[in-house]
Amino acid sequence: MKNDLTFKKTIVVGAGAMGIGIAQVLSQAGATVFLYDIDLAGVKKALEKLEKVMERLVVKGRLERPESREILKRITPIEALEKAEGAQVVIEAISENIELKRDLFQRLEDLLPADTIFATNTSSLSIASLAKGLNHPERLIGIHFFNPAALMPLVEIIPSMATGPEIVSGCKSWLTQMGKSPVVAKDSPGFIVNRVARAFYGEAMNIYEEGIASPDTIDWAMTSIGKFKMGPFLLMDFIGQDINYSVSESVWTQFYFEPRFRPNISQKRLVEQGWLGRKTGRGFYTYEKGSAVSNPIKDEALGNSILERILALLINEALSALGDRLCTLEDLETAMVKGVNYPIGLIEWAKKIGPDKILQILKDLLDHTGDGRYRPTALLKDWVTKGKLEIK
Ligand SMILES: NC(=O)c1ccc[n+]([C@@H]2O[C@H](COP(=O)([O-])OP(=O)(O)OC[C@H]3O[C@@H](n4cnc5c(N)ncnc54)[C@H](O)[C@@H]3O)[C@@H](O)[C@H]2O)c1
Repeated sequence: MKNDLTFKKTIVVGAGAMGIGIAQVLSQAGATVFLYDIDLAGVKKALEKLEKVMERLVVKGRLERPESREILKRITPIEALEKAEGAQVVIEAISENIELKRDLFQRLEDLLPADTIFATNTSSLSIASLAKGLNHPERLIGIHFFNPAALMPLVEIIPSMATGPEIVSGCKSWLTQMGKSPVVAKDSPGFIVNRVARAFYGEAMNIYEEGIASPDTIDWAMTSIGKFKMGPFLLMDFIGQDINYSVSESVWTQFYFEPRFRPNISQKRLVEQGWLGRKTGRGFYTYEKGSAVSNPIKDEALGNSILERILALLINEALSALGDRLCTLEDLETAMVKGVNYPIGLIEWAKKIGPDKILQILKDLLDHTGDGRYRPTALLKDWVTKGKLEIK
């Protein structure tokens, strides 16, 4: 238990999947948490769920019972935001709707002093768009947790153009004290993970749509040869095809229809059909007794070519992000390993494969298809020409 937290008194607004997880993280670290949701019954349900999570941790011996009681006791449901007096930081985890979020922050400005930090857990809205209209936009920052918040170490910190630098450093040290691995990203579509990981899903679906291999074969290549924890198709089924598709569409639209982010028709059809993955019992896979039916073709040569092609796209995107000064190289590597469990960082992987080989794969694909999504990024070309990776 840590007692030296930067922010000891907090409010979490929104007690959905993310909000309750974030409340758990804060309380486990020793902070007091006010929990507010417009749906009062929803808060009750969320707390009951958390009680069960705590009980499981106690049964597994990962937590002492008195400590689990303390964690639950530090979370106080409130039926009005006015009750959150004295909170030093608000974490907003309400539905992904710009009007709702703006209204909430503007209301909070009337209730809380100018030095209370406002953090948003938004996945797809710009922090700038939420800062608009605030009297104190310097207090607003993106603090993007990953699902499940209690288990995933990565947190992306996203300052807007107006965010005060001391707020960035304060949040970074606070999250580190809580045992998280914070990285700082520019206020750019998809931030780090939801941008770079698009290639993992997109290129896997291209390979499938071109008839080169089936989803289970592609997943086999990525997990057995590539050592990814989950293949792209099983992961999309797990996340939900609707959620994954809407992130892809949002990133693509926000990047002005950049071909690298173009969504896939095969996924759109699944969404239209209502085959959303595990939660509906069918997605790219069919499920029997809760398990995906899988009969991959275990052909090493085919598997290697699939892995190399997807990695080339991932590495190109990682380098494109670095070229855009989205984040530091170190934060990029941390983000993909700690946020989506990649076996190693993408730049480390690029060094292993060799940038010249990656450039050749992309050039061949561009030449063959004419599709702009395969354009090698400037940083990759410079890396090959100069013989070293230089990030200005
Ligand atoms: N689910 C994920 O994997 C994930 C991951 C990272 C970030 N996010 C982001 O976190 C946020 C929440 O996502 P979620 O999956 O927990 O959503 P959710 O639908 O599970 O929960 C949203 C909650 O907000 C409440 N709510 C809506 N409007 C409100 C208001 N005006 N005031 C108070 N409460 C209100 C709803 O009643 C609901 O309980 C979104 O911005 C989402 O983009 C989600």
